[in-house]
Amino acid sequence: TPQKEVTVEGKTYTTDSWMNTPSTILSAIPRRLHTQPDHPLTITRQLIESRFPGYQTHNNLFPIVTTHQNFDSLGFPPDHVGRSRTDTYYLNASTVLRTHTSAHQADTFRKDEADGFLISADVYRRDAIDRSHYPVFHQMEGARTWDRRLAEKQGKTLAQLIWDDVDKIPKHSVEVSDPNPTIHPERNPLQDGHAADETEAIAAHLKRSLEDVVVAIFNAARSATTDAAASEEPLKIRWVEAYFPFTSPSWELEVFWQGDWLEVLGSGIVQQSILDNAGVPHRVGWAFGLGLERIAMLLYGIPDIRLFWSTDARFLGQFSASAAPKRFTPFSKYPACFKDVSFWLPARSSSSAAGGASPPPTAAGSTATTGAGFHENDVMEIAREVCGDVVEDVRLTDEFVHPKTGRRSMCYRVNYRHLERTLTNDEANDLHARFRRELVDKLGVELR
Ligand code: PHE
Repeated sequence: TPQKEVTVEGKTYTTDSWMNTPSTILSAIPRRLHTQPDHPLTITRQLIESRFPGYQTHNNLFPIVTTHQNFDSLGFPPDHVGRSRTDTYYLNASTVLRTHTSAHQADTFRKDEADGFLISADVYRRDAIDRSHYPVFHQMEGARTWDRRLAEKQGKTLAQLIWDDVDKIPKHSVEVSDPNPTIHPERNPLQDGHAADETEAIAAHLKRSLEDVVVAIFNAARSATTDAAASEEPLKIRWVEAYFPFTSPSWELEVFWQGDWLEVLGSGIVQQSILDNAGVPHRVGWAFGLGLERIAMLLYGIPDIRLFWSTDARFLGQFSASAAPKRFTPFSKYPACFKDVSFWLPARSSSSAAGGASPPPTAAGSTATTGAGFHENDVMEIAREVCGDVVEDVRLTDEFVHPKTGRRSMCYRVNYRHLERTLTNDEANDLHARFRRELVDKLGVELR
């Protein structure tokens, strides 16, 4: 049931029917893993920061922001799915836990303190449960802008000024695939008011800067491993076209890792309207956002995202900011315990299952809805609430619609595994029983 008020680190918020943030999520806020000494996220952050000399760093921006900061200031349309209560943690209709570090772009541009900045912070998303997803994770936002007036003062074109800076980025000899043109009129358009040669120069600076980061991380990871074969494998990276409401053109960088292309960051040329609205219309530049856990998992070979939250010395004791990174040695893997739950979704006529008796009408709705207001993220959240970090993975194993009644049945398989010890049978059974009960109580499903 929604509370009237919540206080987080001395700040009080009045909740309303949009409130969907459990106390377990709020209790993660003080952890600030990315600033804990010798934490792998801190070391990863510092390694990346060291590749951006002169950029101003911000590591303590408060995670509760307005929907204006998180969405509107960045040009998210009113019906964007990212705004949905199934995807985002709200305290009230206009207050959210930031879903990305981009929430601070406009305010940081407005301060106009430096040409470049890096913002590292905890971010919050309702999402699936598996070894690479956790509802709290960490991002680094980076941006670099140039003042058009400086080019004028120096008697150069803006593009020339930027290319001079491109030449200052360390060179690398890694194979980069980048098959698409910088600008594509339909898929990845140039912004009004930006000249093509300016965008080419900014894109080159962005791409070279981020390639430098990935190469530095990869080299550190390679020296961290004792596995000769792994240290021989060449780094392969590629740029792919992307879309974000707040950049154009936009790209993602992917790294080939253990047989798959892994997305490590999103980036692009900052929408001029953001800079204009922030009172710096004479500036143009790029921005990126990367996931620190992903990078740290690559760097150290950390196999499960839950480990970052561990306070076990067998985990934390393996990382040191003052020594070269060493590959993580997993402590013994405790047994997995799989349990299934099958249920009928409430009939179509019943009210939405999104938690709470009368959820507010969300304009956004959701794309992943599978029946009568049902959203898988609600199943995930109940699993987290009941099991904490003991749940490793929840996946849909079966789904069908009854041919006569039209009712939808779902089956989920839960993997219960403690990271630090063996779970007893009784413990796993208790957790599963509570999970089943909560599914009925909170989502109104009928167990099969
Ligand atoms: N905020 C985006 C995300 O979380 C990443 C991004 C940042 C993309 C900055 C472009 C520019 O996915």
